[in-house]
Amino acid sequence: MKVKILGSAAGGGLPQWNCNCANCGRARRRAGDVLPRTQSSIAVSDDGVDWILINASPDLLTQLRAHPELQPSRSIRDSGIAAVILIDAQIDHVTGLLMLRERSTPLPLYACAPVFDDLSDGLPLVPLLGHYCGVERHEIVLGEPFAIPAVSGVRFTALAVDSKAPPYSPRRSGAARGDNIALLMENIASGARAFYAPGLETVSRTVYAAMHSAELVLVDGTFWSTTEMIDLGLSTKSAANMGHLAQCGHDGRPGMIQWLDTLPSTTRKVLTHINNTNPILDPHSAEHAAIRARGIDVARDGMQFQV
Ligand code: MLT
Ligand code: MN
Ligand code: ZN
Repeated sequence: MKVKILGSAAGGGLPQWNCNCANCGRARRRAGDVLPRTQSSIAVSDDGVDWILINASPDLLTQLRAHPELQPSRSIRDSGIAAVILIDAQIDHVTGLLMLRERSTPLPLYACAPVFDDLSDGLPLVPLLGHYCGVERHEIVLGEPFAIPAVSGVRFTALAVDSKAPPYSPRRSGAARGDNIALLMENIASGARAFYAPGLETVSRTVYAAMHSAELVLVDGTFWSTTEMIDLGLSTKSAANMGHLAQCGHDGRPGMIQWLDTLPSTTRKVLTHINNTNPILDPHSAEHAAIRARGIDVARDGMQFQV
């Protein structure tokens, strides 16, 4: 099972168009050390030919240009993208769907019911795509393993996670189960597993068990501290308010680092969906060193894992 990171940044990317924080400034000036990153998305395959895109970011076309395996090769109109799974209905995870409108057949789209609701109402991408390639709707049932014909060597299981419905959703103040999911992806032949959760505010018992069972853990790396945006004067919202568990704990609650520390040392631990303000993006920072000292990786666009 191949797992590719197409985009490792949170919404807005790095550099963000209107941001001049230390990281955005250096990434924009290409000051060599802070690598630019595109918005959050991964791709999974069992044969390196057909891929499942997990989240379609606004940077999808740039991401496809960077990955020949996802480009057309077998016929005049073709793509390595066989289907799309959505983790949530956030703007940075769904706007790229519009970039797939030129398909000649309906786009196989996998998501939970609340996500389809948001993409039919608040942000009506599904009916809109109906005027182009159309959508082949596949509703994901939480906890029930499913397979996608084009990538039959991988078994997917969606787990409900606590995070936040998108700001435009009528459920912003009270998320429904399925608004946000984590994905457990199993290599059916070997039993090896990968866990993916770019938006995670609470590590429940079920989520922890899934993380603990995986060889590769790709998780929410949005913020270093829960007051990161507040401290920079960029927002009044804490990381928790936005549905993200920061790397550092707060109010006696463990942070993402503490949770990752408890996983087996053999587990590959990777922080992804990283907000441009996060100091771990600077390879010379103390925060980056602290992460690396614990054997945790800071995701970069183009990273690939074999599981
Ligand atoms: C999030 O991850 O919290 C959202 O994607 C925020 C955003 O970029 O809109
Ligand atoms: Mn996001
Ligand atoms: Zn910035």
